[in-house]
Amino acid sequence: MPAVYLDHAATTALLPAARTALLEQLEQLGNPSAINSAGRAARRVVEESRERIAAALGALPSEVIFTSGGTESDNLAIKGTYAARLAADPARRRLVVGGAEHHAILDPVEFLVETQGASASFAEPDA
Ligand SMILES: Cc1ncc(COP(=O)(O)O)c(C=O)c1O
Repeated sequence: MPAVYLDHAATTALLPAARTALLEQLEQLGNPSAINSAGRAARRVVEESRERIAAALGALPSEVIFTSGGTESDNLAIKGTYAARLAADPARRRLVVGGAEHHAILDPVEFLVETQGASASFAEPDA
C-alpha cells in the first residue's frame, strides 16, 4: 500500500508557481532593509508580495506579517492576540486551547499563564 503523507501542517509540497517565484528570488541579491538599489529592489518584491497575499486573503497589507516559520508565527499570534484583547478589556484573560496542540502552541500559552495572568482551558480531542 502506498504511504499517505498526513503532516502537511508541518511541511508540504510547494505549488509549481510558488517554487518558480522562490527560485527566481533566490537568484537575487539585496537586503530589503538596505537603502542601496539592490535593497530597494528586494524591498519592492517583499511589499508587492505582501499586497498580493493581502488581496488574496481579503486582508490589509499591514495585517500580513512574514515570519521565519511556525514557532514564531504561533508565538506572535497567541501573545499578540492575548495582548490586544487584554488591552481592549482587562477581564479577557482566558485562553481555550486544543489539547492535542503542538508545543509551539502550548509553550506560549504556558508563558502567558505563568507570567501574564492568563488562564487556560484545554479542549481535549475525542475519538
Ligand atoms: C502548529 C505548529 N507550530 C509550529 C511548528 C514548528 O514549526 P517551525 O519548525 O517552522 O518553527 C509545527 C511543526 O509541525 C506545527 O505543527
